[in-house]
This record gives sequence, structure tokens and C-alpha cells, in this order.
Amino acid sequence: MWFQIDCGLANAVTAAAELCGISPLEFSPDVRQADPRFGDFQANGILPYAKAHGLNPRKIAEKVVEELVKDENFSKKIEVSIAGPGFVNFRLSNVFLAEWVNVYKSEEDYGAALCKIFSGKKIVLDYSSPNTAKQMHVGHLRSMNIGNSIYKILKFCGADVIRDNHIGDWGTLFGILIMMVKDSSLNAAELSLEEIESLYQRGSALVKNDILALDSARNELVKLQNGDQENLEIWKRINEISQNSFDELYSRMAVEFDYTLGESFYCTKVDRVYRELMEKKIAVESEGALCVFHGSHERFSKQPFIVRKSDGASNYAATDLAAVLYRTEKFCADELIYVTDGRQRDHFQQLFLTVEEWYLAFGRKCPEMRHVWFGTIFGEDGKAIKTRGGAPIKLTKLLDEAKARALAIVEEKNADLDDDEKDHVAEVLAVDSVKYADLLSNRTMDYVFSWDKMLSFDGNTATYLLYTIARIKSILRKSEIDLAGVEADCLETEEERNLVRQLTYFPMVLAMAAKELRPHHICSYLFALTGEYSSFYNANRILSDKKNVTIRRLAITMRTLSTLETGMHLLGLETLERM
Ligand code: ARG
Repeated sequence: MWFQIDCGLANAVTAAAELCGISPLEFSPDVRQADPRFGDFQANGILPYAKAHGLNPRKIAEKVVEELVKDENFSKKIEVSIAGPGFVNFRLSNVFLAEWVNVYKSEEDYGAALCKIFSGKKIVLDYSSPNTAKQMHVGHLRSMNIGNSIYKILKFCGADVIRDNHIGDWGTLFGILIMMVKDSSLNAAELSLEEIESLYQRGSALVKNDILALDSARNELVKLQNGDQENLEIWKRINEISQNSFDELYSRMAVEFDYTLGESFYCTKVDRVYRELMEKKIAVESEGALCVFHGSHERFSKQPFIVRKSDGASNYAATDLAAVLYRTEKFCADELIYVTDGRQRDHFQQLFLTVEEWYLAFGRKCPEMRHVWFGTIFGEDGKAIKTRGGAPIKLTKLLDEAKARALAIVEEKNADLDDDEKDHVAEVLAVDSVKYADLLSNRTMDYVFSWDKMLSFDGNTATYLLYTIARIKSILRKSEIDLAGVEADCLETEEERNLVRQLTYFPMVLAMAAKELRPHHICSYLFALTGEYSSFYNANRILSDKKNVTIRRLAITMRTLSTLETGMHLLGLETLERM
């Protein structure tokens, strides 16, 4: 199944080990990128196997290698050696590397190799999921951006993914909002999202000091929950206005969904959740609320997972439980993935524990569940990024500023482009830079937002990658050679070899990003690849006097380009022809 991902090495080692009496059930070859001083790939799996069985790892490695090299097709193309206590190193021959270049020609070829990883798997991916009645701010960037890249990666690896935007459209804030709309006799349909937001801010300040207002807001909420027509109408309008504003941003960010089933969708579906949880005594009444305690968990045995509030209203947990049912029963999902910030870790741990117990009690197949969480974005002063007035920066404003800065760069670097193209280049550069800077570090880390760094031509930035891609495209345009069907013969120079070796790592990196749901592996890889390309380009003339050399170097250049573009697409980034 993993064939082609690591040049077929895991399969080969597993087969050789089996011939030495090692069962594949007990042995994982653990093939990874090697230290270039020792080889191109390394298999580390013999050590843990030997340790578990009280055997001498070096002896086992010797036997496995003996079997490996018996196969002439293998030993002709790949040199094998043993290092240290039992690591197996592989060096790919120049013939093998050239063949590799001729097999992986395009995004589709990579896709064909990788689509087996998750084929047949149905996943519901829950991301973005903002709350309505508020404009999206910087804090909303990460879920939509990381979620979008994870969608592309999972899909590329063969999963059947349903993208569900679980918007928060059913909160207590609607009590306040409806009261404010009615009191000001505004027409809800004519409000902008900014106006709705400021209405809410005024309203929530009001209910803090005015008991009558608080009562009236509560009353409006109860009426809404009981299906009052007028209140439902206002609620619907506010959500429509929010959705339109979200859609504008999604379109600019090229983020899409298959479903937007907000919290309100589950209102009528929570009763079954309460009933089932009470029937099996998974949830109990505590101070009027319905709670789940997890007896064997250190904290959650005391910290309740509240699934119904003491006033009888459903909450975040209830709608999430109902959504699990819906996703497993209606969408037939095998796996549920949630992309939110790290502060929701407790919520999801409690949710998952509750679902496991609940599904077991009813003999249902429990889905796999993963919380893909991320850290915070800080300003350069080390504090959460805010406007001067202390409010969170609106995401649209952030993109506008990125675009203004990008436009200045385009004017400076490429003043000859016509205005439309300048505008397009600046927009792509802006959106890509913001997205890339957000994907670059391991998602569970916090990161510092820096305009200068993210738009720089040096270092690991979208700007640098886009520039490299545009430069390669220009090299190919200028070659004046029919590029269809160009293939590499045997490689020659050290730089050609280093570059192609780097290309062979790509499928393995994608597989790792897919398994861990961490797009930053792709960012690190692309940066390393552009580095190898620069060394190659600086040391090896592409348009050489010898035709076969030119053709080979063009073929390698084209593979580098398609690998870079595939990587960018999997991060959700657009690329440019010229910059
Ligand atoms: N609306 C929530 C928030 O803004 C995020 C929802 C995440 N998804 C979920 N199924 N709980 O924090």
C-alpha cells in the first residue's frame, strides 16, 4: 500500500524481513529521509524489533540486507549498507533517480501514488465555523486556513471528505440583538454586519446595568426558542447578513464548504441525545443541569461536561453531540475532524469521551475523532494582535493591508506589468502570504505576525516560493524547446542528484502531513526544494551545448515546478505565471 511513497523501500524491506522469519505484523520498517552523508533513505525499524525480541539488531540487519540484495533488480539500482547498531541505509543510483523523474511528471502522478492512503475513508471535516452576528477577525484566520489545507491534503490522499461549516447561529446573544433591533425600530434586513455588531455591543453594555433590559433580552430569547414568528424573522435576517459577509471573505480566501449546518440545525435533534444519555445513565442531573462526568479521568471526574443548561436550553455541547449522530448516521462518516483553537481542548476531550461511552452503550460503531487544534497569533510586541484601539483586527482589513503592501512590492519589482495584472499579482501575493505565514509553523505553536517577514523575498515565505515558480516558468518559456515528453537520461552532476533526491522525498512528506494533519511539513519541504533548485541552477547550465543534457535539465526543472505547484495547491495557495 505504501509503494511509491518511499521509492518502494518499505515494501522491499518488509518482504526481505519476512524471508528472514520476521512477521510483518510485528515489524515496521520505519523508512525515512537519511542524513545525506550516509545515504538517501534509511530504515530504522530493525532496532525496536530486535529490542522487543531480545535479539542482536546488527545480526538481523545483516540477514535482511543479504535477502534484499539477492534481488538483482533491486541491487542494480539501490546500494544498501548497514550503519551503527543496525540502521539500514540506501543510496539510489543515478539511473534510479532518472527513472523517478520520468514517472512523477505531474500533480496527477503524485495523486495516483498517494490516493491509496485514505481511499474508502469517509471523513467529516469541521472547520472555520464562526459565530454569526460578528465580523470575522484575525482569530478566525487559522481554522479556515488550516482546515482548507487539511481538506486538500486528505482529498489528495484519497479520502472522501465532507466539509461542514458548523456556524454558531443560535447563541444567547440573539436575545440581546432582537431586543435592540425592536427597541430601535430598525429594519433588520437593512443592517450591515458592522451595525449588528455595534448594536450587540451597546446591548450587552446595557444589560449589565439595567435589570429591566436584561429581563427583556431573556424574554426575547425564550420567545425565539419557542418559535415566535417575528423573532425568528429577525434572527434569520441577522444570520443571512452574517453569511453574506462570511461568503465574501471565503471567496477571497478560496475556502469552500459542502454544508453549512449551524448549531440551530440541531435544535430539534438534541432531545434524542438527552434521552439516550439519561437512559444509559451516562448523563445525570446536577444542580438542575444535565451533566456527564468521566469517573476514571483525573479532571473530568469532577469537571462536568454540561450537555443541557439548568434553564433547560441546549448548549454548545448538546449541539456537538447531536452533530456527531448526524454525521455518523446521515453522512456515514468513519472519522470526524474538528479544527479549532487550543482553548477548546477540554471541550473536545470531554465530547470524545462522552461519544465513546454513548456509542458503546448503544452498540454503535464509534467514529474516529480528532481535534486538530492550533496556537495563537501574536503581534510583534508579543501580545495578541489588536488594533490601536484594542479591538481585534478584522480579517478583511488585514487582507486589504496585505494587498496594499504587496502592490508596493509589485510596483517596485515589475513596473512593466499592466494595471490589471499588477492588481492580480498583488492580490495573490497578499492572500498567499497571509495563508502561508499561518501554515508555516507547526500548528500547535503560537506564532508572531510580521508583515516584513511574511512579504520578504528571503526566507521561507510565499513570496519566495511564488517568485521561484515564476522564474522557473520563465526559464521554460525561454528554452524554445518542445517540452512535451521531455525525459531525463541518467543523471550526472552532484547538483542534479541532490535536487532529484529531494524530489523523491515529496510523497513521504505528504503522507506525513496527512497522517499528522500538519501542513507545515509541506512548507519546510518546499523551502528545502527551492534551495536545492537554486544550487542546481547556479552550478548547472540548463541550456547546454549537448542536447541530452539540456533535455535532462529541462525535465528536472519541469518536475521541480510541478512538485512546487502541487505543494502550493495542497496548502490552498494559488501560483502565478509572472511576478
Ligand atoms: N463556533 C465555535 C467558535 O467560534 C467553533 C465551532 C467548532 N466546531 C464545533 N463542532 N464545535 O468557537
